[in-house]
Amino acid sequence: MGHHTATVCLWLALGSLTPVSFARVVEPRDPVPQGYHAASYYPAPHGGWVSSWREAYEKAYALVSQMTLAEKVNITSGVGIYMGPCVGNTGSVDRLGFPQLCLQDSALGVASADNVTAFPAGITTGATWDKQLMYARGVAIGKEFRGKGANIHLGPSVGPLGRKPLGGRNWEGFGSDPVLQGKAAALHIRGVQEQGIIATIKHLVGNEQEMYRMYHIFQEGYSANIDDRTLHELYLWPFAEAVRAGVGAAMTAYNAVNGSACSQNSYLINGILKDELGFQGLVMSDWLSHISGVGSALAGLDLNMPGDTNIPLFGNSLWQYELTRAVLNGSVPVDRLNDMATRVVATWYKFGQDKNHPRPNFSSNTRSRDGPLYPGALFSPSGQVNWFVNVQEDHYLVARQVAQDAITLLKNNDSLLPLDAGDLTGGKLSVFGTDAQVNPDGPNSCLARACNKGTLGMGWGSGIADYPYMDDPIGAIRKRVPDVKFYNTDSFPWFFGTPENDEVAMVFISSDSGENTLTVEGNHGDRDSAKLRAWHDGDKLVQKVAEKFKNVIVVVHTVGPLDLEPWIELPSVKAVLFAHLPGQEAGESLTNVLFGDVSPSGHLPYSITRKASDLPDSIANLKGFTWGQVQDTYSEGLYIDYRYLQKHSIQPRFAFGHGLSYTNFSFTNATIRAITTPLSVTPPAPPATRPASVVAKYSTDIPPASEAYEPAGFSRIWRYLYPWLSKSDADAAHAIGTSKSKTYPYPPGYSTVQRASFPPAGGGEGGNPALWDVAYEVTVRVTNTGKRPGKASAQLYLQFPEGIEYDTPVLQLRDFEKTKELQPGESQELKLTLTRKDVSVWDVRRQNWVVPTAIDDKKGFTAWVGEASDKLKVACYTGEGRCVEGAKQPV
Ligand code: NOJ
Repeated sequence: MGHHTATVCLWLALGSLTPVSFARVVEPRDPVPQGYHAASYYPAPHGGWVSSWREAYEKAYALVSQMTLAEKVNITSGVGIYMGPCVGNTGSVDRLGFPQLCLQDSALGVASADNVTAFPAGITTGATWDKQLMYARGVAIGKEFRGKGANIHLGPSVGPLGRKPLGGRNWEGFGSDPVLQGKAAALHIRGVQEQGIIATIKHLVGNEQEMYRMYHIFQEGYSANIDDRTLHELYLWPFAEAVRAGVGAAMTAYNAVNGSACSQNSYLINGILKDELGFQGLVMSDWLSHISGVGSALAGLDLNMPGDTNIPLFGNSLWQYELTRAVLNGSVPVDRLNDMATRVVATWYKFGQDKNHPRPNFSSNTRSRDGPLYPGALFSPSGQVNWFVNVQEDHYLVARQVAQDAITLLKNNDSLLPLDAGDLTGGKLSVFGTDAQVNPDGPNSCLARACNKGTLGMGWGSGIADYPYMDDPIGAIRKRVPDVKFYNTDSFPWFFGTPENDEVAMVFISSDSGENTLTVEGNHGDRDSAKLRAWHDGDKLVQKVAEKFKNVIVVVHTVGPLDLEPWIELPSVKAVLFAHLPGQEAGESLTNVLFGDVSPSGHLPYSITRKASDLPDSIANLKGFTWGQVQDTYSEGLYIDYRYLQKHSIQPRFAFGHGLSYTNFSFTNATIRAITTPLSVTPPAPPATRPASVVAKYSTDIPPASEAYEPAGFSRIWRYLYPWLSKSDADAAHAIGTSKSKTYPYPPGYSTVQRASFPPAGGGEGGNPALWDVAYEVTVRVTNTGKRPGKASAQLYLQFPEGIEYDTPVLQLRDFEKTKELQPGESQELKLTLTRKDVSVWDVRRQNWVVPTAIDDKKGFTAWVGEASDKLKVACYTGEGRCVEGAKQPV
């Protein structure tokens, strides 16, 4: 195992080859298309003015006030890649009891560790549309991170949002819609953070494709060019929900936004995240994406990960030694460093990590009991690094429940499903496809899961966990139908008799994707080679099986949408199930559905189009290589996924939210009630002045050079990153800083004066608190009108009034709920809500959320409720305060 993890790290390290060991304040930028602009936004707002964080900030102030310059610097950076047990390890201040923090992947479980649970991926969780499960999975993940002694969980991921169906990492998040992502992320964060683990919302923002994402010696990372309204209404939305949920950490993306690299984009970090969204925690860079040093500090970055320059392992950092120097020579204000260090320490206090928080008891670098403590150092002291602590408890149960409730039945002609095991004995069930059985080399045999061999339970890259086992589909099927015939091949046997009419065939196919640094079967993270086709000639296998058998079930393990056209209309392909990426619990979760122990209740977290070109070029295709900076311009604006299809009346093959059941549901007795009315056009203004932050209390004088001296007789570990300067460097820097003889070339608009007032959309965590006022409440009675037990999904889509001055998508998901398992005839009342923000648009001119109204409008907003974006059953009108059953949805 050990060498695998080490190699993962190496590809990560070699993935970026820019020899930047000097600090530049502003990277020369490639021109971006007209209309896209990354404005300067300074200074970095102080943290600590939100009341729920005040106590943590006060404690942090008491601790940080005692720190020397070098100590403060040491906790704002990692100590170098592979210089400790975790994927990221910060410096510590042992003298004051502030430990190294352990930052660990991934969003679906503890990565590179033994005795953990490999949970279903984010996309699978999104497909459950079940808030309880989103939360319960977060609780279990949080417990496992705590049990392993991590401090910071590097998840959830909501960026990529899923703009491009071919994008490599969409499966780490919850689906191609900001509300689905936002609600799932907030519940995940609550679950994780209630265990005393800091969650990280990532990647801010626009990392919608993998290829060309990184800055390196030959090229800048691509620029995601996003207009202000699209940013607010789509890509920022889930980040705002995460901040509102109190997320402790945020990670910037590799790419640039509007020409400015995210790790040093002052508009994004200072302006949007810290000012408008009022983020109180710490902002870290994605691994090895930090490219400027002073510029990123000024732009609001607080934690440099994993510490090295983007050519790692030479003992160089843009912070650590260089940040100490930059503070002494006056280029980075002392005030900024105080805020950085205070944000780190306050976040640690906020989640109670000062009390009995376990130390890491595992190593990402090896599976052996003993090993080097600092593998990146080459010559390192050794000792015990793995204690093999089993943190799984009964988490397989929530993992299995998520996997099961995500299974999405797309088609079920002649009610072929559920199967009756009794009818299939005697050789009447045949299973085809290598995806039905665990990888024969072992489920963890490929580096960072970078192969598609055997059952596909997760994509590849950093967003993974090691499987403790794989409950594979064929194993679970054999428990039901012991004499099932299994053809463990992706090509149909060339000799094959004629099956009986009542025989059933099941075909397993898959589609994989992952992170850019590893290529799998020609796919560079994104599905650039396979496109939307099933891998391993899966479409042909389905066609061949469908030629022979009359009853065919297709089971799909996939990272996202697939082109189903090669076989979806074949008469013998009667049933199709998307099992998404189930993690370790692929088998029983599936057979429970196949054999009717439960009805399927998953719904698609994205649309499946008939052809890729049903979506516009800007999202249907990946950006290819160009000289200079690749420009990925979001010319489709708000119109991605179903928003685009509905605007252009394009029928998808299967709509966003689609999912069948073995039973039927009615939606009746709907009501709508205004809660906060009348709604003013814009939210009430935030308080005129910002509450004071403790950060303003520190001295901002340049400290004595002696605070940066390396302690006498200190014995260094080679290539480990330290904050200390040699005496001569410290004295020289201090002389510059105190004489003001040299001024730093600050970016335009640079200022050190904290803004006195909030932006109109700001004033609380996530933005103006009034944005979360419940404006309307909708209730609906869901009744199981069929013959089998089942769970129903209720999805609420908002339609803006006609005649408003803003162009808006026809329908937009705003809330969802799921019933418990309802017995035939049983019903349950569900409550869904619309907040002020839900009924607002982002007004670019006013820089605020505006509730649009139309003159002479009686109906007001329409809240459509139903089982899918194309199966809306009830319309509720805010103006009339009533609901209508059987209304015809607008598209
Ligand atoms: C790069 C990935 O983009 C990020 O998601 C991950 O958390 C870090 N590497 C650490 O592995």
